[in-house]
Amino acid sequence: MSKERNRQSWDTLSKCYQSEHIISLEDVHYGPHAPGERSLGLIGNVRGLDVLEIGCGGGQNSIVLMKWGAKSATGIDQSEAQLEYARKLAQKEKVVVSFLQADMEDLHVFRNSTFDLVVSSHAFDYAENLDRVFQETARVLRKGGRFVFCMLNPIWRVVGTALESEDLAKVQAYFGEEAEKWSWATSDGQSIGAFETVPWRFEQIINGVIQSGLRIDRVVEPRGYNGNEAEEIGVESIPYRDAYPSEKFLALIRRIPFTIIISAKKS
Ligand SMILES: C[S@@+](CC[C@H](N)C(=O)[O-])C[C@H]1O[C@@H](n2cnc3c(N)ncnc32)[C@H](O)[C@@H]1O
Repeated sequence: MSKERNRQSWDTLSKCYQSEHIISLEDVHYGPHAPGERSLGLIGNVRGLDVLEIGCGGGQNSIVLMKWGAKSATGIDQSEAQLEYARKLAQKEKVVVSFLQADMEDLHVFRNSTFDLVVSSHAFDYAENLDRVFQETARVLRKGGRFVFCMLNPIWRVVGTALESEDLAKVQAYFGEEAEKWSWATSDGQSIGAFETVPWRFEQIINGVIQSGLRIDRVVEPRGYNGNEAEEIGVESIPYRDAYPSEKFLALIRRIPFTIIISAKKS
């Protein structure tokens, strides 16, 4: 698993990623074509809270949380290109967010008990040591603080990707131990970057949070919106969507959860 290669790959992909995804600046998103915070209500009132977003990418969720009244927001990411995009976006949206380059496994730049809320969307699959991420999160959270994150649902990783490619020989091992190598396929058939993500299992995700001392109080596996629902709620209110989604992908996210969301508390 090469973090450095992931970092470089995100630098290379950032421009395309941001232009091929329509990510809300009005609702916190939990991944592609899934209900956002306005529907799920996992975070609740953020007025006056100090917020940290881990693996913030283009910073959209931090920006939304500031618009919703957070006292401060800090976004960390390893990719300078993603952070650069985030800084410009925050300026355009007229909110102040502090965007820093940092590794999610090492939050030493923050003192203990600095934040009331830590959020993260689809970044923890890149963690080399997920336990360390949870322990660092627990350390920087204040007592009573909340931690809401989502990552790739292991079911999607194993089954969804195979069905998507129609090649059952490509079914990934659930108990895979090695980092998985892949490239980002753009809508026009290009392949960008050389990413490596770790095949985290449910037990590792959930036990890691428990061992960090945080208390899990809700788990959500959101079902993707279908075309009719999207029309009913208005496609622009889906907080994260592909600019060019394939029919097959939209059908699959109705059958297999793409994301798992976990909400935990420090008591
Ligand atoms: C799929 S993107 C998600 C970005 C953003 N949260 C969103 O939902 O659009 C994953 C992000 O995690 C970041 N990332 C990967 N490994 C990281 C690490 N070790 N530390 C901090 N950020 C990392 C990448 O640079 C990338 O911006």
